[in-house]
Order: sequence, then C-alpha cells, then structure tokens
Amino acid sequence: MNKATIVAIPLLLVLLASYASNLWAADDVKQKPSTRHPASQHITVVAHRGASGYAPEHTLSAYKKALEMKADYIELDLHMTKDGELVAIHDATLARTTNVEQVYPNRAPWRVRDFTLAEIKRLDAGTWFNKMFPQYANKQYRKEKIPTLQEVIDWLARSRSKTALYIETKDPNIYPGMEEKLVGILKKNRYLYLQKSKVIFQSFSEASLRKLQKIVPHDIPLIQLYSPAMLKGQNLDDVLDRAAEYAEGVAPDQSLVTLEFVQKAHKRHLVVYPYTVNTKEEMLKQLSLGVDGMFTDYPDQLVELNKKKFTAKSLVPIF
Ligand code: G3P
Ligand code: CA
Repeated sequence: MNKATIVAIPLLLVLLASYASNLWAADDVKQKPSTRHPASQHITVVAHRGASGYAPEHTLSAYKKALEMKADYIELDLHMTKDGELVAIHDATLARTTNVEQVYPNRAPWRVRDFTLAEIKRLDAGTWFNKMFPQYANKQYRKEKIPTLQEVIDWLARSRSKTALYIETKDPNIYPGMEEKLVGILKKNRYLYLQKSKVIFQSFSEASLRKLQKIVPHDIPLIQLYSPAMLKGQNLDDVLDRAAEYAEGVAPDQSLVTLEFVQKAHKRHLVVYPYTVNTKEEMLKQLSLGVDGMFTDYPDQLVELNKKKFTAKSLVPIF
C-alpha cells in the first residue's frame, strides 16, 4: 500500500462517518416536532396496584416490590369505610381480595362502605393471591391487611424512597367528601406542599377531578381516565379539549391508544398513560405510539425497557 492510500483510507472513513452522523442528526431534527413522541425520553413506570403481578394487589408487600423494582409511582385506588377512613382497595366490595365471606358470612354484598376500619382490619388480604398465583405465593402474604392511605404514607416516608403516589378516587359519587378527606390527609402529612412532585391524582370521574382542581395546588397533576365505553361514539377532539380544561394528562385503556390519539393529546399538552400494559409486546407497541408512561402489574419489565436505547425514528428499542 503506498503512502497516498494510507492517508486516503482514514480520511475517507472520517468523511463517511461525518456524512452518516449528519444524516442521523437531520432525521432526528425532522422527528423532533412530532407530537407523537413522549414529552420526556423517560417513560414513567406506574406500578398498577403496586407490583400486583408479583404480590397481592394493594398490600404493603406489593408496594414494597414496586419500590424495589424502582417504579416511578405506586398506583393507589381509594375507597371509604363506613367510619370515613380512606383505604387502598380496587373493588367497591371486599369479596375478591379478602376472606370477608368467611369472616362475615351474613354481610353480603360485602361493600367497603358497609364495614368499619376495625372490621376490615380483621381480614386477610393475601391468601387469595397465594391460591390464584401459586408461582408467586409467599406465606407472609397471609398476614397482609388492607392498608389505609395514612399507613401507606407512613410506610413510604419510612422507606425514604423516591417513588411517588398515583392516587385514584374510586366511585367518588358514593363517597361524598372523599376529595376533601384525601387532600386533608395529604396536607396533614405535609405531603402536598413539601413534595409537589410526589403525587398525581387520577379518576374516571370528571366531576371528582374538577373538584380536586379547586382544592389542590396548581402544580399537582390531574389525570383523566378513560374506559372504552366512555369514548364510544365520542369525538376525540371534543373529548381531549374538555380534558385539557382541568387535566394535565389522560389515561386511556391501552386499546384506545393510536398515533392519532397520542398526537392529539400531545397537541393539547396532555401526557398519555395507558393502562394496564402487562406484556413486553404490549409495552413495545405503546412505546412505538409515543406514550409518556404506562400502568403495569410488572413494573420491572418496563424499568428494563427504559434502560434500552431507542432509535430516534420509531422509539423502538435496540436490543
Ligand atoms: O388507574 C389506571 C387503571 O388502574 C384504571 O383501571 O380498574 O385498574 O382502576 P382500574
Ligand atoms: Ca386504578
């Protein structure tokens, strides 16, 4: 190889690399204005009912696993007891996730609102999980109780974790004063004012969110949840215009998410958090549509995907 060739080859390589890098940069710039992309490159990981794929939902064990898996948020569904305590449970009744039918056989339909906190504290909130998911069973779960909001706050404070709360007002129409009670508890714990970035409120109820909007500081995000039935026959522009009046984001069932949905939401500065995204394939699909975060029962899987590098073009991870 002569001297001229020895000099020319590296030079050619440098020029080629520079050309490729310019092409990539141009592509990146072209992509930036897209309303499809998430508001942040970090996809928010919301542990749905805690890490509920691995431990009984809405128990401290499920929340602890969510912390260990480094979820950004623990999702908390709230109902109210007969004596006005806010407790973390998804269903309006105690039957599916506790042994209430054995402990109180004559109290059907076992509604949360018909039981005092002391009565609810007698229930086992973990054995059902061991039976249903033997692969994740743990003897300790038999001791799990339904936690109050206050207990969750105390536990989270003790953990010194950065994980925040993503609180849902469930069935607020049957619990008058629920929002005021919720905000009162957070204020009493200096939670709202000292840790503004540590709580998000969500609800399927627009009325509940509008009520919260009036009584919480402006920088606490409010998220409107949508089931497929809620959007059936609705004009998407009208729906999102309405949400933008009071919410910072929307959380649709994952089946509702399309490129059009995400673009229209982002155009209105609404973040998009679909629920409940549990398989890797589903997560990749939602990522490719440009969502900002997801509710999942398996937060470790989404945390793992967050570590991958994504192409600027499609937000599909490079494995
Ligand atoms: O809050 C998001 C998602 O949890 C809504 O559905 O029924 O699991 O509360 P659900
Ligand atoms: Ca929920």
